[in-house]
Amino acid sequence: MAEELKIQDGSKEEKYQTLIPQVKAVMEGERDLIANMANLASMLHETFGFWWTGFYRVSEDELVLGPFQGPLACTRIKKGKGVCGTAWQREETVIVPDVDAFPGHIACSSLSRSEIVVPIWKNGKVFAVLDIDSKDLATFDETDKRHLEEIVALLRN
Ligand code: SME
Repeated sequence: MAEELKIQDGSKEEKYQTLIPQVKAVMEGERDLIANMANLASMLHETFGFWWTGFYRVSEDELVLGPFQGPLACTRIKKGKGVCGTAWQREETVIVPDVDAFPGHIACSSLSRSEIVVPIWKNGKVFAVLDIDSKDLATFDETDKRHLEEIVALLRN
């Protein structure tokens, strides 16, 4: 009981430390990318109580909506557009502490206040991004970047 409470109320770092072995266990048992994306979106969403957690997959010159948790989202994003298209174009994680201050942010939900987008790689190319939105300002930092990059790398296999 005490341990359970500690995990629930634990720091962001503790939550990732608890989550990562669980994600590895789930991924090890399943090779289907969409199935793993679906469970990963759920695990992240439930653990942290984010507003929107999901994936966009690269399809030609666009990102197309993949498995997610949260409210309805836009289905297609052009390369370089919004936070997702920017992370894809730059080929690096983008942290946005205040979406209103990010030029070109695509507001799928007016309640979203901060965001992180993490590119996912296969054979030297970005094939998808993980997008997470929060209803609070400045939710995401280097701890999220480090752990989310580690977690999405598990989807490569
Ligand atoms: N805000 C994103 C669009 C996707 S939704 O947040 C789910 C963006 O600017 O790329």
